[in-house]
Amino acid sequence: MEERKILYSAIQPTNNLTIGNLIGAIKNWTNLQNDYDCYFAIANMHAITVRQVPADLRQTTLSMLALYLACGIDPEKCVMYVQSHVPAHAELCWVLNTFTYVGEMERMTQFKDKSARHAENINMGLMDYPVLMAADILLYQTDVVPVGLDQRQHVEISRDIAQRFNNIYSPTFKIPEALYMKVGAKINDLLDPSKKMSKSAENPNGVIYLSDDKDTVIRKFKRAVTDSGSEIKYDPEAKPGVSNLLTIYSVFTGKTIAEAEADFAGKGYGDFKLAVGEAVADKLTPIQKEQARLLADKSYLEGVLRSGAERASRTANRTLSKVYKKIGFYQL
Ligand code: TYM
Repeated sequence: MEERKILYSAIQPTNNLTIGNLIGAIKNWTNLQNDYDCYFAIANMHAITVRQVPADLRQTTLSMLALYLACGIDPEKCVMYVQSHVPAHAELCWVLNTFTYVGEMERMTQFKDKSARHAENINMGLMDYPVLMAADILLYQTDVVPVGLDQRQHVEISRDIAQRFNNIYSPTFKIPEALYMKVGAKINDLLDPSKKMSKSAENPNGVIYLSDDKDTVIRKFKRAVTDSGSEIKYDPEAKPGVSNLLTIYSVFTGKTIAEAEADFAGKGYGDFKLAVGEAVADKLTPIQKEQARLLADKSYLEGVLRSGAERASRTANRTLSKVYKKIGFYQL
């Protein structure tokens, strides 16, 4: 049998996940899990680059796993695990640090944004974040990394670091490719469609959280910014607000953009925004219910994580051991 390609992705644990995370990442994963050998991590080591409340971090780690499962990721097919349960991530990160330049890290857009937002805590981890992400990806000899467009730079730097290492020694890491959704790789804020929808947005009314109830979802969509004119047409340049809503509608209903436009031909913005809100709420409600049901079964969730950590460690340690050999670490 032909060997399947390897897919790797991760999300930081938080209670503030948005439909951007759902559309840009998890939804894509559920579609791809039948075609690849998949690893899905819960990136708690990335999460601590900004200050966390320990009890919350513990809780969101489990609720993240419950969310993966509630969205239909199958633990029989995919390895799901917590990043800190596989020490190889920190170990490879250290080695890769010595193949990464400070200047490269200082230029990362997300580092600059986060430094501005957390000026009181520009810690080394925040700057090193992309190297840890490179370690995540490279440990599994990953072929594809499905992410939203905001992670593009991080996947690029992972490729650069891998190539650099391979050139100095000999081929050790597979060079990964980012994989973006055709529709939905960047979902924008409802109140400011020039910005990505972000869990850390200042105004929560522009953001649909996965935990929002139906009334909240509908209320936020009703207030969403549309554009001048009255036509409901996909044109991200001239009509960024309407185009963002059409994208969300299309992803949540499974319709193409053209079909979405046809649904609203001759209709007004009011009807349109209500329909988008209902489409989103109808999909979120069952996910929320299933997530809550799973969260009540802690022993099941821990079983999934235990087996995930074992399977992930096996693969990760193989790569780490190759790396240690190549760089001349004495092995017993
Ligand atoms: P994170 O947790 O910020 O986001 C998780 C995923 O959601 C995508 N995303 C979006 N997609 C479309 N529109 C949006 N508005 C939107 N907002 C977020 C992100 O692109 C991402 O795919 N560093 C990563 C986690 C990570 C990782 C990795 C990813 C750690 N190691 C290895 C891939 C491979 C992060 O913080 O994503």
